[in-house]
Amino acid sequence: MKRKVGIIGYGWVAGANHKNSYAQAKDVEIVAVCDVNKAALERAKRDYNLPDEALFDDYKKLIDSGLCDMVDICTPNSFHCEQAKYALNAGLPVSIEKPVGVNSQEVEEVRALAEEKGLPVFICFTWRHMPTTRFLKDVIDSGAVGKVYHCYIKCIKESGLWEGRRLEWRFRKELGGTGVLCDLGSHMIDFLNWMNEDIVGLTANMGIFIKERQKVDSDEWAPVTTDDYANILADLKSGATANIELSRCAKTEEQLVEFIIYGEKGYIRFCNYVGEGLEICYGSKEEIAKGKQRVATPEKYGATWSLYQSQSFIDYANGKKDNFTSTIDDGLRAQMVIDAVIKSSEEKRYVTIDEIQKGLK
Ligand SMILES: NC(=O)c1ccc[n+]([C@@H]2O[C@H](COP(=O)([O-])OP(=O)(O)OC[C@H]3O[C@@H](n4cnc5c(N)ncnc54)[C@H](O)[C@@H]3O)[C@@H](O)[C@H]2O)c1
Repeated sequence: MKRKVGIIGYGWVAGANHKNSYAQAKDVEIVAVCDVNKAALERAKRDYNLPDEALFDDYKKLIDSGLCDMVDICTPNSFHCEQAKYALNAGLPVSIEKPVGVNSQEVEEVRALAEEKGLPVFICFTWRHMPTTRFLKDVIDSGAVGKVYHCYIKCIKESGLWEGRRLEWRFRKELGGTGVLCDLGSHMIDFLNWMNEDIVGLTANMGIFIKERQKVDSDEWAPVTTDDYANILADLKSGATANIELSRCAKTEEQLVEFIIYGEKGYIRFCNYVGEGLEICYGSKEEIAKGKQRVATPEKYGATWSLYQSQSFIDYANGKKDNFTSTIDDGLRAQMVIDAVIKSSEEKRYVTIDEIQKGLK
């Protein structure tokens, strides 16, 4: 039986990423779309050949329409939790784009409601679905580098420096929560969690370089209120340590993402600038002496992440969960780390995730 999905928010991520991923998924159809922007609704109508009755400018009407049996939330961050709770109260499984929300308290409320209703909530942590990161996880899980000591993670891009970029929702705290921290950082924080290297405490700094931008709907200038950079030094549950560097103001070719995992037997490095596959240097004395090697990602991992993400959501809604499924518990974990980063940066001190968790109602 085909699952019927209603999408809320038909901007970039829904119209590009999710569209590609649904196109490769089995037993699913997009039956309704909601967006507050008319042009976005027109695009959705064309993309999915939808009748006018399946287009909504209010998410409650989409959910109440009875057209869909699952909801995919792709709106700006501050709307996610309110929309997810409405869908859960209507008895529908939900997918939520990352970050789940703008603070841990509202994410905890979604988690508690999902538990009460017995409904799955899937989080779009896309880096779990990349062929090469899946390969990387398998290598780490196989014990190839032995006990892990260091995780160096870099995710930097130049999107904050694009000429004339306006004060879109990502630059406004009331809509985005944080900036690069939740935009890129939530993926990186979840990556560590997924590798079983969960963050337990941290010190961090974050800040804004470009202090003002022109508003989207007028030429008036207004303050940017979300971070352009964040640096995190974290302790991990396993006893290892992580350094995470995030920026949207680093002039690069487009976006640099790098993970280096150092263990007692050597290291593994993923870097999107050097093509598919991994750089490895681990094993016996003789193997280490050969120096770094490049290994291609085996074909069994597939060609693209879009093969997996939407399928993973549908499978989860159908009761199937695996090593790659990202749930509301993972989303809450990442959100608590985000809150800890903000607190550490504001109060200039070490903050534990336990402290954030204890503050939740
Ligand atoms: N997983 C990933 O790799 C990834 C990549 C990009 C964006 N995202 C996430 O996806 C979400 C959307 O990002 P985007 O880049 O597509 O933004 P976007 O601005 O391109 O799209 C957001 C859309 O939501 C619509 N919208 C705004 N408020 C609404 C409301 N109350 N009800 C219905 N529609 C509403 C807007 O009109 C717009 O069409 C964010 O949470 C972002 O963090 C995730």
